[in-house]
Amino acid sequence: MWLRELWYYALAGHRLRPGRMMPKTLLDEPLLLGRRSDGTPFALRDICPHRGMPLHHGTFDGREIECCYHGWRYDTEGRCTAIPSLPEDRNFDVSRVAVRRYPCREVQGNIWVFMGSGDGDLAEIPEIPDIGSRRYQIAESMIFSCGFDHAVVGLMDPAHGPFVHRAWWWRSRRSIHEKEKRFEPAPLGFRMCRHTPSANSPGYRLLGGKPETEITFRLPGVRIEHVQAGRHVLCGLTAVTPISRDRTEVNHVIYWTMKWLTAIRPLLRPFVRAFLDQDRRIMVKQQEGLAYGPKLMLIDDADTQAKWYYRLKKEFARAEAEGRPFENPVKARVLRWRS
Ligand code: FES
Ligand SMILES: [Fe+2]
Repeated sequence: MWLRELWYYALAGHRLRPGRMMPKTLLDEPLLLGRRSDGTPFALRDICPHRGMPLHHGTFDGREIECCYHGWRYDTEGRCTAIPSLPEDRNFDVSRVAVRRYPCREVQGNIWVFMGSGDGDLAEIPEIPDIGSRRYQIAESMIFSCGFDHAVVGLMDPAHGPFVHRAWWWRSRRSIHEKEKRFEPAPLGFRMCRHTPSANSPGYRLLGGKPETEITFRLPGVRIEHVQAGRHVLCGLTAVTPISRDRTEVNHVIYWTMKWLTAIRPLLRPFVRAFLDQDRRIMVKQQEGLAYGPKLMLIDDADTQAKWYYRLKKEFARAEAEGRPFENPVKARVLRWRS
């Protein structure tokens, strides 16, 4: 159901302060996310190997976690360092006890966790171009009460905009017109090639300097929009993460290089939340129908990206199962739709 052997977005970095830890379920697995006092984030399985106590109920001193039940201690790599109940002369190697560790990295302010076996390839952590090591200016997170695939497909869907995101500052139903966009394959996904956004999106015009945008999608559910406006850049990262079968987290973080935008940042946040909430509400309504397990239709070209998503997913799972390299099933082409 969910792809493994991939990096998933876990958390916006500012939500994890040094010396703190917190529980979080990802892909139905209980994780303990924490940040050492030296700033390094880590992720462990949130279950004590002794008698199953969630480790987040214990304490963390910035270096080691102590389980609240019998005080077994673990370092942030998951190695047991102490078992208080052992008599001094008992020959028991505590380092044989270990909590599962998940590879965890912070990139451009975002904390990613590798859900798979092995260490994960650091080069596969989605990174935003032209931003360097800058951290985001806005980070919003919302739980959608729906399955992962519907959240991903719903967010990449080009045809819902005029109906779901109707707003004076974005677009109206009357603004629908024909679009023609070039797409090409990209690592683990595809890219809508750089183009001038349509005139019916006043949001882009505000940026000034003839904005041009490029949108990249990659597995498992990461969308990066890169807008070049003159010498400035604005980027949005939308990362979808499965929490459980019917709970999906959508994270949206935005970066920019314009000083004037930073000055009005508090005014922008409500717009970002309102936009995400429109998607959330529509997907919750859709659940009422999906509960009956209807057969669904994907039409060309408005749903072609959704078709590609399912194809990418299938190929990724197959390549993993057969132990061969992933072969991108997307071919470069132009898609046409009205929105
Ligand atoms: S359950 Fe954790 S120390 Fe016993
Ligand atoms: Fe949307």
